[in-house]
Amino acid sequence: MKRNRVRSLFFGFSVGLSLIITTGLFSATPQKDILVDSIEDLEKLFPPSSNCASCHANVYEEWKKSLHHESILHSIGGLANFIKFGIYGEEERKARAEKPGGLKAEMMKCFSCHAPQLEFASDKFIREIADAIVAYADRNDPKAKALLERLNVSCYVCHNLKALHPPERPSPKVIYGPNITAKLPFHDTKRNPFLQNSNFCMQCHGVFIAPDGEPIMCNTLSQSYRDHYVAMGGQKTCQECHMKAKNRGHTFPGAYNVEMLKEGIEIDVHIRKLTDLNPELPKDQQWRPALALTIDLINRAGHRIPDG
Ligand code: HEC
Ligand code: HEC
Ligand code: HEC
Ligand code: HEC
Ligand code: HEC
Repeated sequence: MKRNRVRSLFFGFSVGLSLIITTGLFSATPQKDILVDSIEDLEKLFPPSSNCASCHANVYEEWKKSLHHESILHSIGGLANFIKFGIYGEEERKARAEKPGGLKAEMMKCFSCHAPQLEFASDKFIREIADAIVAYADRNDPKAKALLERLNVSCYVCHNLKALHPPERPSPKVIYGPNITAKLPFHDTKRNPFLQNSNFCMQCHGVFIAPDGEPIMCNTLSQSYRDHYVAMGGQKTCQECHMKAKNRGHTFPGAYNVEMLKEGIEIDVHIRKLTDLNPELPKDQQWRPALALTIDLINRAGHRIPDG
């Protein structure tokens, strides 16, 4: 007989005493004075990452390998379904979206993390982008793709727009970095330790509460980081595992990376030889060799896996 025991995933570190103090949820704080109508004007406010490549070539190449680089294109199916079946399919949502500013309010429920610079887009531009998402998802429209690939979690999104702890707002054109305090001739730089805090990542990698109160559960990874990993004494930040370890830098490996996946799951297999008695068989065959197989799956990541 073969006994097979697969324990559910649990966290492989000892339980310590740690305290989590809730300081409130992140929420969007829209600043409506500047609204642009085109991708060209948006890129004047939030220069594309290619502008940084001449001096930060390595970081730029790393970023291009990350999903932050294609945070609209990679999620295109889900975004198109939200537009087709959520916005145009649900009566209440449709009614809200038809009011002035309503389509933007609905779309920001996704864009606040997938392309937060669109906070500065006009209603007209948001409609153009929503149409492009459906056109690319349904018909592979090349013009739509050319627009959408310019929308992503760019250098500027992290080093300016999202770099300060909400509700603080960034100064236009300032590049916030983790180290430099001296004045640079290349760009206005300010040191900002929030970039090295897990809360920086949790702004997007967690539950989001839209200004109208609707919770968006695109992913809940931060909650498990906080309530399981940190609460049980885990010490590492998101940046330590996803950027600093093994010089991962700005490639941000996750579930699509085999090495990262292996690192997340420890498989412990124990095999014991046994013999089983089967009285229904002839006497000389009653004792049969068997194995007891115990498989422990231990989660070494800083949160529940898989997420999503
Ligand atoms: C709080 C920020 C946030 C909001 C709001 C948000 N997302 Fe996401 N979304 C993420 C992050 C972060 C990931 C990557 C998560 C991961 O891989 O664990 C993701 C992943 C996805 C994926 C999966 C990509 C894949 O790996 O296949 C889809 C599809 C998606 N989002 C669609 C949407 C849609 C549609 C909305 C709006 C209704 C939305 N998201 C709202 C942050 C957000
Ligand atoms: C998803 C958010 C995110 C994006 C996108 C991003 N960065 Fe960063 N970057 C960080 C964080 C966080 C740190 C600090 C890491 C640490 O020290 O813990 C950092 C550090 C840096 C540093 C200083 C240390 C180093 O790693 O060299 C430079 C320079 C930098 N980023 C440039 C860029 C450029 C250029 C781009 C675009 C090609 C970019 N970043 C895109 C989050 C981001
Ligand atoms: C003309 C060259 C040049 C361009 C273009 C440039 N940078 Fe820099 N940047 C530098 C130099 C030099 C440093 C200081 C040395 C270093 O950290 O690499 C620096 C430092 C940084 C830092 C690190 C600050 C810290 O605290 O360590 C960040 C973040 C950064 N740049 C982001 C960007 C972003 C984002 C862009 C594009 C919008 C950009 N840079 C464009 C030259 C440039
Ligand atoms: C502005 C919002 C935003 C911020 C800030 C941000 N991310 Fe992301 N991140 C995303 C989105 C959106 C995706 C998913 C893109 C997709 O799949 O379409 C993603 C993808 C990822 C992935 C790849 C997920 C996978 O399934 O492979 C990792 C890993 C990741 N982010 C880690 C981080 C870490 C660590 C930080 C903090 C240093 C961070 N992110 C900051 C929005 C953000
Ligand atoms: C102790 C190291 C560690 C810490 C801390 C950690 N991660 Fe991870 N993370 C991993 C490993 C390993 C994986 C790959 C396992 C997997 O995805 O199944 C992973 C996977 C991910 C993925 C892809 C998950 C999926 O299933 O789609 C995202 C996104 C991510 N991490 C973001 C974060 C963020 C954001 C934080 C901080 C709030 C964080 N991680 C903290 C080690 C860590």
